[in-house]
Amino acid sequence: MLLKSLGTLSAEERKSAGQAINAAKQDVESALDLRRADLALARMEARLAEEALDVTLPGRGRGRGGLHPISRTWRRIEEIFGSIGFEVADGPEIETDWHNFTALNNPENHPARSMQDTFYVDLDDEHGKPLLLRTHTSPMQVRYARMHKPPIKVIAPGRTYRVDSDATHSPMFHQVEGLWIDEDISFADLKGVYVDFLRRFFESDDMQVRFRPSYFPFTEPSAEIDLQFASGPLKDRWLELSGAGQVHPQVVRNFGLDPERYIGFAFGSGLERLTMLRYGIDDLRLFFDGDLRFLRQFS
Ligand code: FA5
Repeated sequence: MLLKSLGTLSAEERKSAGQAINAAKQDVESALDLRRADLALARMEARLAEEALDVTLPGRGRGRGGLHPISRTWRRIEEIFGSIGFEVADGPEIETDWHNFTALNNPENHPARSMQDTFYVDLDDEHGKPLLLRTHTSPMQVRYARMHKPPIKVIAPGRTYRVDSDATHSPMFHQVEGLWIDEDISFADLKGVYVDFLRRFFESDDMQVRFRPSYFPFTEPSAEIDLQFASGPLKDRWLELSGAGQVHPQVVRNFGLDPERYIGFAFGSGLERLTMLRYGIDDLRLFFDGDLRFLRQFS
């Protein structure tokens, strides 16, 4: 407004009026700058106060981790079998059809295969068969025996997979395979070794062990091993722990050994089952939920 009216003034007046207007304009602008800076400072101080961190407070702490109950069982098994001269072997979880089934006397289209449905990998082995997630630790019998000379005395604990899911079956679970092959290893040795293992694992003699006739294509004769405690919450209930048997002559041949000379036993036990019995847990899914309230009880 004032600047526009300058034109109506004389040259003399215009000069001094112009200077006065410019001075006033600068005053207003610097007052605005000052106010803006004040407001920005106030906003920053408010934020700093709101987000204040007391760096002198003690930390929350991370807690001490503990071993998963299945890992505890795994270690215990290695310790017990290690103490009676068993080696510990580890093998692949992605297996060939031959190691998981065929070498174990379980040819294609054999009905026993349907008891162990599994997950397949989108890759073929050298014979054009899709690779699969192993359904049991038994392929380790074949892998280990083909690489070692008798006497063979080994356990192979590890993860296994099946299309199973309920309170006592999980799609991923753990087994431990045991194999003892020599010139004179009999079913009686299996009984002795396994019963001794159970007594040490459960730290009790207060139990009965039953070898119930069963069928596996890779053992003959075959048995399921059941356990019954004489006292405690599980008293008088037979519980299945393991498959076992005398290794089938055809499987000994697949090991690359002469079945006329070599004989022995194998077993395959579920680690979840052993852990459930040891701690009195009735739902195996608890092991894999990752709930710290459950897991802390074991650390
Ligand atoms: C086998 O897997 C045989 N390979 C065992 C064997 C080894 C027999 C050597 C003879 C000689 P089976 O399917 O019964 O057998 O499984 C053995 C154990 O694994 C069972 O007793 C059970 O404890 C455990 N198991 C099987 N399926 C599952 C599952 N889905 N979830 C948790 N545990 C399982």
